[in-house]
Amino acid sequence: MSEGAAKKEDKPRKFQAIRGTRDLLPPETALWNRVEQTAHEVFATFGFGEIRLPIVEEVELFARAVGQETDIVNKEMCTFPNPMRFSEFYRRLRESVSKGTNEMGTLTDLLPESEMISLRPEATAGVCRAYVEHNMQQLPQPVKLYTMGPMFRWERPQKGRYRQFYQIDAEVLGGTDAPAIDAEVIEMVMTFFERLGLEGVQLDINCIGDKNCRPKYVELLRAELSKVKDKLGPDSQRRIETNPLRVLDSKLESEQKLIERMPHIADHLCEECAENYRGVKKELELRGVKYGENWRLVRGLDYYMRTTFEITAKGLGSQNAVCGGGRYDGLVELLGGLPTKGIGFAIGEDRLILSLLETGHSPLATRHSPLLYIAWMGEKAYTTAIRAAKNLRNAGFRVELPPVEQKFGKALGQADKLGARFALILGDNEVSSGEWTLKTLADGKQEKLGESDLVEHLKKQL
Ligand code: HAM
Repeated sequence: MSEGAAKKEDKPRKFQAIRGTRDLLPPETALWNRVEQTAHEVFATFGFGEIRLPIVEEVELFARAVGQETDIVNKEMCTFPNPMRFSEFYRRLRESVSKGTNEMGTLTDLLPESEMISLRPEATAGVCRAYVEHNMQQLPQPVKLYTMGPMFRWERPQKGRYRQFYQIDAEVLGGTDAPAIDAEVIEMVMTFFERLGLEGVQLDINCIGDKNCRPKYVELLRAELSKVKDKLGPDSQRRIETNPLRVLDSKLESEQKLIERMPHIADHLCEECAENYRGVKKELELRGVKYGENWRLVRGLDYYMRTTFEITAKGLGSQNAVCGGGRYDGLVELLGGLPTKGIGFAIGEDRLILSLLETGHSPLATRHSPLLYIAWMGEKAYTTAIRAAKNLRNAGFRVELPPVEQKFGKALGQADKLGARFALILGDNEVSSGEWTLKTLADGKQEKLGESDLVEHLKKQL
């Protein structure tokens, strides 16, 4: 290798965020904070408390809860050996390769499932795990919890679909399955969207039955879909066997007419489910929550029963679901807990922000206190400037203190560029006289003020 080539290779390369992940930058992060703050406020008024969960859990938790055959678990999860067991994993891998079997199988053939961990693709499974682990069934029921943070699904990225995305998730666990609970959870998310000024909000609801009536409907649907199997695409053909309900989710244009002719679950609900569904609709009406009914809304996770819902908003293109949720009464039991009622939702925060931005919500509308730039010159002035910055920041002002001395002209130019409203000018004269100069940048007005008057004077101008 020539010396030139070696040098070229040594040159540090630039890094980029991994495909499907991204940096959230200011000023947009101000909008993220405003959204999250509003969630904390609105959810608290409905009696919810915040839970913070780990980002990694055992793979088996998600396989059980979300469902082994779902796209999320089957294709999209980030799963890897527990790092404490990497060496054992590689030893077995080498062994399997050297045997030359060529049949590697799945990761869990090399390490037991309990040694495999996954980045969480959603939060409901973790909330239910925590409910059981911390014996929350002993608390007054229901327990209302919410959480927010990153989730991971290794899907093909597109607008509104990321591999690392953020959810705001709320769950009600325990107590009864009274329709008022379903309706109040939905009312809460609609209140939150209204408070944010989200536009074009549309709520769709459905009832997908329970273990008494759904299996019969699924068989009927499977039989009807089988009759038109040849006309369906490969995904739907496969799903006729694995999960016929998911065929109803299909967006494939060529399948729409066929699917529209399929039997509706509403005509096959048992009396308890039908009664419950009527109750949920009545309770929504009592709360003035407008909804549409969508018999094809089955959702892509296995744990749902009875009420399912989805909310769409403006400006999102094909990935327009900004929130999805539903009831999952059997889930806690499936995760080793006592029989427990459950219902909840998750908001896609990335999509929520996207919709707000597309409909003209400026992140800059977030109210910050005005920026004050300290233009200082000279060593004595610097000590005074540090003291001034500390006092002003403690009073809640945003302060920019230049780290090196600048000529006043340059300092004022910099203040202007940063959008500062005020410049505090501190030079030898100001320090010796104790009379500081405050300049309002918009009109160039200058005032002389004593140190003790500055904070009060600025507060009056807010
Ligand atoms: P989900 O429908 O899978 O439900 O996700 C909820 C929301 O997360 C979606 O409506 C969407 O806004 C957002 N989302 C999902 N995947 C992505 C992605 N790849 N990129 C950006 N946003 C995404 C659940 O996760 C359930 N755990 C909801 C729930 C809570 N059900 C009961 N409790």
